[in-house]
Amino acid sequence: MNGCAMRNHRRPLVAQAFRPAKGRRAALKGLKAVVVVATIATAIMAASRHGEAHKAITSKYTFNDDVFPILKERCARCHVERGVAPMSLMTFKDAFPWAESIRAELIAGHMPPWNAEEGFGDLKHARTLTAKELDVVLTWATGGNPQGNLDQALPPVTLKNEWTMGAPDLALKLPSEFTVPADKMDATQEFTLPSGTKEARWVRAVDLLPGTPSVVRSAVIYLKSPGTPAADPVLALWLPGHDPEPLDGRVAFKLPAGAELGVRIHYKKTWQFEGQPIADRSTVGVYFAPDKEAQELLTVPIVSPPPTTAKDQTLTFTRTIDEDVQALAMRPEEVPPNITLQMIAVLPDGSHAQMIKLNTRADWARRYWFEKPIALPRGSRIEVVANLANPDILSEAFGAIGSTTKPPVTTPLKLAINVIPAKPKLSGPAEAGHHR
Ligand code: HEC
Repeated sequence: MNGCAMRNHRRPLVAQAFRPAKGRRAALKGLKAVVVVATIATAIMAASRHGEAHKAITSKYTFNDDVFPILKERCARCHVERGVAPMSLMTFKDAFPWAESIRAELIAGHMPPWNAEEGFGDLKHARTLTAKELDVVLTWATGGNPQGNLDQALPPVTLKNEWTMGAPDLALKLPSEFTVPADKMDATQEFTLPSGTKEARWVRAVDLLPGTPSVVRSAVIYLKSPGTPAADPVLALWLPGHDPEPLDGRVAFKLPAGAELGVRIHYKKTWQFEGQPIADRSTVGVYFAPDKEAQELLTVPIVSPPPTTAKDQTLTFTRTIDEDVQALAMRPEEVPPNITLQMIAVLPDGSHAQMIKLNTRADWARRYWFEKPIALPRGSRIEVVANLANPDILSEAFGAIGSTTKPPVTTPLKLAINVIPAKPKLSGPAEAGHHR
């Protein structure tokens, strides 16, 4: 794919210049490389700051007073030393060379990674900047990037790599270390993890703690042998710095006795680690539900017909709900990156409920939890409209990827919604089956 070319387009001049050219990069080794690169970087940064001095400062917002608190709140989970993002943004020195790139990423809605468009359904843990925050960062990025008071010391921001929900009931270390080899930028690895449970349990959340946070890009944790076809075998779609959404205990995932978990991790190096092997051994955390009785979170798959021709730019498909349910969440399961998907519920009385609108991107698939359960009486229709043309503003702006160069979508799109019956039916975790 030409993702790489596009990334280079986006890289700010300064940072781009201090990345040695590909051939040279291989020749530079070890500490020497670090020193050389750092020296070049410092020189370029100094030169560019000198250049910047001629650029009028029009921004009334400064990094120290206005921008830093926003970046700390919104970007620090990843853009911090040893984080998953390619660079820290936690000091003025770190951030200012990226000002133009920050502007572009924010305008395109790429950062912070979230992918759901505002105004189409209410979602929990929404990761978008407020209009005010956006205004502050954009004004600073385009208005000369003032640092503010030079004597002002900003608090150091360090990587937080800990269990968001506290220590799990069951911490399961992956059976072995995995190393992304020196000559590869990414790799997907599948692990099988015995849960070791002697009895069936209800589970309210499953989470992951990366061993090497800078390289663990995403993970899918699923039940290897789900009990019933409608059960949800996907326990977690993990992303760096995301907020796990614990179920309230009355609704839970079922973990059969002796269950095996499948863990599929996508490892990806940032350019900082190009040419270096990086090893990881992550840990999966399981949180049990407190109650003996709960109702299982079920899955309703929503699958499109195969796109008919390569030219077909929109695909509309529906799924009728055959029981009174409440929808709690949705997730893209198999969807190509850089398409738009809109999902609405058409209720039997003809009224519509917005569920979600997604601009999909590689790597950032997550489960989206609706702010409030969406009641879907029997006979409701879930309608999905997928626009397969490239909606990516950023790529279009740079002319890097047009819909003509995008590979045509030929396989069916797969989404899923998570539901519970509208009338609670509680049971123990070992009880097999349920009504559908
Ligand atoms: C969940 C982790 C995460 C958060 C939060 C996040 N980023 Fe990123 N960011 C990344 C990753 C990973 C990349 C590398 C490109 C990619 O894979 O999308 C990236 C890339 C970027 C780039 C482009 C770098 C390049 O190589 O061209 C910019 C600029 C950026 N982020 C700015 C921000 C800003 C500003 C925020 C906060 C408002 C933010 N990001 C929040 C993970 C994150």
